[in-house]
Amino acid sequence: MDIVVLCSSRFGHTRRICGRVADILRQDGNDARVLDITGRERIEPAPGRAVIVGASTRYGYFSPRVWRFARTNAAALAHIPSAFFGVNLVAANDGKNTPETNVYMRRFFEHTPWKPDMIDVFAGDLDFSLYNPFDAAVIKMIRRFMGRDIDFTQRVEFTNWDDVATFAHDFSALAAHGK
Ligand SMILES: Cc1cc2nc3c(=O)[nH]c(=O)nc-3n(C[C@H](O)[C@H](O)[C@H](O)COP(=O)(O)O)c2cc1C
Repeated sequence: MDIVVLCSSRFGHTRRICGRVADILRQDGNDARVLDITGRERIEPAPGRAVIVGASTRYGYFSPRVWRFARTNAAALAHIPSAFFGVNLVAANDGKNTPETNVYMRRFFEHTPWKPDMIDVFAGDLDFSLYNPFDAAVIKMIRRFMGRDIDFTQRVEFTNWDDVATFAHDFSALAAHGK
């Protein structure tokens, strides 16, 4: 199976997750490559082809590129195996870490015609060494909503990598069966 993993990452963590997903897809015998999403892609459905999109949340939304990609390609993606995963901080909380309970996932799928075969959401990371002062101040506010203390002096990662691996293996199995 030829699987493209399209990645929308601002500070690199979603790209790390996309890379791990692609590694596992390859272990499962697929051809897999990671590309940065532009939103201008045109998916040509063909047997043996599949697409995964991974995107982080920034200020409440996925990138407009992700929305554009989903709107443009929804019809084509209905013919091939496809999956979407979101990455955000809110998903670090129990009760907000499923596609049904995570606000950004719900908002996206209420407004996009794309119906992927698999949807998941993973908790992201925080790395204050990368943020400008405005972003850092806003994230410290979000942190309060998370109801937990965070060490701002070092990179903190909330991602459950076992869940990422399970997602990738499950997609391999799904893609192998085709649509
Ligand atoms: C400027 C900024 C805004 C963010 N906004 C949100 C948000 O609204 N909700 C949320 O749950 N997480 C938010 N996050 C957390 C990111 O989704 C998390 O850091 C993720 O790991 C970033 O992935 P990336 O490095 O691939 O962009 C924000 C992070 C940054 C830096």
